[in-house]
Amino acid sequence: EKGTYPHYMLKEIDEQPSVVRKIIQAYENEQGELAIDPAIAEALHEADRLYIIAAGTSYHAGLVGKEYFEKIARIPVEVHISSEFGYNMPLLSEKPLFIFITQSGETADSRQVLVKIKELGYPTLTITNVPGSTLSREADYTMLLHAGPEIAVASTKAYVAQVAVLAIAAYVEAKSQRIEVNFDLKKELAIVANAIQSIVDSKEVFEIASKDYLSTTRNAFFIGRNIDYCVSVEGALKLKEISYIQAEGFAGGELKHGTIALIEEGTPVIALVTQKSVSLNIRGNVKEVTARGANPCIISMEGMEQDGDAIVLPQVHPLLTPLMSVVPLQLISYYAALYRGCDVDKPRNLAKSVTVE
Ligand code: M6R
Repeated sequence: EKGTYPHYMLKEIDEQPSVVRKIIQAYENEQGELAIDPAIAEALHEADRLYIIAAGTSYHAGLVGKEYFEKIARIPVEVHISSEFGYNMPLLSEKPLFIFITQSGETADSRQVLVKIKELGYPTLTITNVPGSTLSREADYTMLLHAGPEIAVASTKAYVAQVAVLAIAAYVEAKSQRIEVNFDLKKELAIVANAIQSIVDSKEVFEIASKDYLSTTRNAFFIGRNIDYCVSVEGALKLKEISYIQAEGFAGGELKHGTIALIEEGTPVIALVTQKSVSLNIRGNVKEVTARGANPCIISMEGMEQDGDAIVLPQVHPLLTPLMSVVPLQLISYYAALYRGCDVDKPRNLAKSVTVE
């Protein structure tokens, strides 16, 4: 039930701090350390390459998951859109493990890949929010998201849960391989939960930002580099699906290869700046679009150098920023949809779970 909330989407955005805390608990062993099912740990260990298969927001979570498995656990990863993979399978490695990310566990595009992969005899893991769902039942292993029912068509808390569970899987795998990991994920996730809490507690900031940047525009761009780029594509999807504003997420460096031609007087460009290693580059991109008339909204993080930033988020571990930086993007999309009088929870032409190919 949505209780006093006007929309499920807002309720689900607000639930995100408690979802992160619940996941920490759900993946803790008796010693209070993060742990996963030993059979899944074994499957990860055996694999020479992970193939992440997903659609929509779950695909975007997979892009972040690739960063985690490669950077933390040193396992190579490919991330594929399910509707493409099923009909155009790439050359596979010798010992692949297939990871299906799906909030509902019912997405037909993802299921058709699972069916084909099972015929080929490869091991499969489903990461889902719904115990007993089709993809959970049909895969060899399941990891649950523990996000609670997600009702709004626009996925919010499931994305955050997916990214958190992927981080835990990569971290536990790295530890079990005695790969040096120089941070305590459990502690860092607790910091993330608090950071998200402070963001959802200051909603007016995002309501104002949404009004300033998005209330009348026809289009909008989200830019970022590295892990911020993964989040920018999710921010764009959120805005498209509920506010019907044409939006795209771009890698900052790609702008000059074509997209910058679209910048006009007043075009909103929302830039994520949470990664020190590329902050100068992305700030350079912001200057390039501003010089051509764009209306930039820089979202950065405490501990980073600042330069005319519109919104400064609390500091979290650099690899975990997607869990937090997605939240302002969810909120500004929510308010943009409200201003435009859109049906936030049930956007046109969309269904919560897409059970047709
Ligand atoms: O249930 P799934 O995670 O498999 O669903 C995949 C997509 O249909 C879903 O993420 C969709 O993109 C959302 N409406 C995004 O907010």
